[in-house]
Amino acid sequence: MNLIVANESHFKYAQDICDTIAESAKIRGTGIAKRTPEYIQKKLSNGNAILALDGEKFAGFCYIEVWGHEKFVANSGLIVHPDYRGQGLAKKIKAKVFELSRKKFPDAKIFGITTGLAVMKINYELGYKPVTFSELTDDPEFWKGCQTCKNFDILTRTEQKMCLCTGMLYDPAHNKKPEEGKQMNGKAFTRLKSIKESLFLKKK
Ligand SMILES: CC(C)(COP(=O)(O)OP(=O)(O)OC[C@H]1O[C@@H](n2cnc3c(N)ncnc32)[C@H](O)[C@@H]1OP(=O)(O)O)[C@@H](O)C(=O)NCCC(=O)NCCS
Repeated sequence: MNLIVANESHFKYAQDICDTIAESAKIRGTGIAKRTPEYIQKKLSNGNAILALDGEKFAGFCYIEVWGHEKFVANSGLIVHPDYRGQGLAKKIKAKVFELSRKKFPDAKIFGITTGLAVMKINYELGYKPVTFSELTDDPEFWKGCQTCKNFDILTRTEQKMCLCTGMLYDPAHNKKPEEGKQMNGKAFTRLKSIKESLFLKKK
C-alpha cells in the first residue's frame, strides 16, 4: 500500500473517490457534505491531499482545507474503500494528512466535524479534543459546506451552535497527546449522539 501526496496525475481517481463517499453515506444513513469530481480534482492538484493506492487501485483518501486565512485547517473527506476497511488504513491516512498539515501550516489549529466513532477515536489519538462549534472556524465558507448535508436544517435551527456532528480540535499551542494506552470513551460519544438524534431529528 502506497500513501502519497496526490497531484494532477491522479485526476482519474476523482470519480471513484466521489462515488465511494456517496455510497458509504447512503449505507450509513448519516449526513455528509457532497463533493463533485471537479472539487476532488482541485484537492488532488494543490498538494494538500493524501491518496492511498494499492498498486493502481484506489484504497483511501483525505485532504486538507484551509480556513480563516490559515488560522484553521480541516482534515476532511476521509474515505477508505470498503475492500480495505478494518486494517488500520484510515489511521495511517489520517496520521499522514495530520503530518502534512503540521508541516505546511505549523501555526494553524487543525479541526474536523464528524458523526463517526472511528474518526473520533483516530483524532483523539492524534491529540484532538472535543470542542463546541464556537471554538472552530467562523469562516462562512466552511459552514456552507454543510448545506449539502441532509441534517443542515438542524445546524440552521440551532444557529450553528450544534448539530449531530461533534467538533474536534488540535491546538498546536496546547499540543498534548493522550497518555500511552489512554483511550477515548466511545460509549459516551455513542450515547451523546443518540441523545442529539432524539432531540433534533424530526419524527417520521
Ligand atoms: C470510517 C472509515 C474511514 C474507517 O476506516 P478503516 O480503515 O476501516 O479504519 P481503521 O481500520 O484505521 O480503524 C481506526 C479505528 O476506528 C475503529 N473503527 C473502524 N471502523 C469503525 C466503525 N464503523 N465504528 C466504530 N469504530 C470503528 C477501529 O476499530 C479502530 O480503532 P482501534 O484503534 O481502537 O482498534 C471507513 O469505514 C470509511 O471510509 N467509512 C465511510 C466514510 C466515513 O465514515 N468517513 C468519515 C466521515 S467524517
